[in-house]
Amino acid sequence: MPIISRPDEFNAEDLYVDLRAEFGIPLYLKCEGFNFAGSIKLKAARAMVAAARRSGRLRPDSILVESSSGNLGVALSVIAASQGFRFVCVTDTRCNLATRQLMEALGTHVHTITEPLPEGGFLGARLAHVRQLCEGDSRYVWLNQHANEDNWAAHYRVTAPAIARAFPALDVLFTGAGTTGTLMGCARYFKQFRPATRIVAVDSVGSVTFGGPERPRMIPGLGAGIRPPLLDESYVDDVVHVDETDTADTCHRLAGGGFLFGGSTGTVVSGAARWLAEHAAGRETTAVAIAPDLGERYLDTLYQNTWVEQLHHNAQRATT
Ligand SMILES: Cc1ncc(COP(=O)(O)O)c(C=O)c1O
Repeated sequence: MPIISRPDEFNAEDLYVDLRAEFGIPLYLKCEGFNFAGSIKLKAARAMVAAARRSGRLRPDSILVESSSGNLGVALSVIAASQGFRFVCVTDTRCNLATRQLMEALGTHVHTITEPLPEGGFLGARLAHVRQLCEGDSRYVWLNQHANEDNWAAHYRVTAPAIARAFPALDVLFTGAGTTGTLMGCARYFKQFRPATRIVAVDSVGSVTFGGPERPRMIPGLGAGIRPPLLDESYVDDVVHVDETDTADTCHRLAGGGFLFGGSTGTVVSGAARWLAEHAAGRETTAVAIAPDLGERYLDTLYQNTWVEQLHHNAQRATT
């Protein structure tokens, strides 16, 4: 029986959904949404804050500031509240309402960017705002998840070893790519200790992370308008791109079976199912995919018909 006194002390690290029986996909889904921040970002937030405290950069009068499409913002809100720091989260209009409200309920000040930059999109505009805040007040401490080595190190130390323990003969691991912290931490661990496991990155169509042309995207979490500084493609065996309309279809399919997951889980499962059908059909393959969060935060977007209709409309416009 876990008993905790700090909200970041608990994380369900060993929960997998077998998608074979119910959905016909030969995939185990590692569920990362069962903690007090509701997502995998709790691990990165915890590691980055601990390192900043250890180094003396983060002091009692510091104000944490971070650019986040939502989940890291919530995770830092949880930790900032628990450790007595002030926190400003810079997000953009794609951030779900529930996510913003959650951060505010935890005492965070949320700055919402409404205009993307012509080059660099919303992410570029968010980063410019963070830089402006830091230049104006020396109390601001920017952990910068996009370039912070403790972001990937958290997954190298915790996420990847947990998967390797649970699946000693893992053939393929699918992970989504946002900052690429999860991807790089897992990829570095498996290349070092389990080199037979193939590492497949899953990204959204319209993200520039792996060099594709930029296109507007509506689902937060995966993909980037600027190439992630943490990414080292030499650790990645393959990349799959998923259209956001397929993401929504997969989320709805999983919800139809009682599993309400977040947007990137739909992306990762959709990409993994396609990859497995192309590369492993008819072969016994042990495959794991990482589900970064659950679906409640997406009730006003992915799980609303009008929003999904808009998604289809935008996708159609982008291809014609
Ligand atoms: C919704 C969502 N998708 C994807 C990811 C993977 O992100 P990253 O590449 O930044 O580790 C995260 C990380 O927390 C997430 O919260």
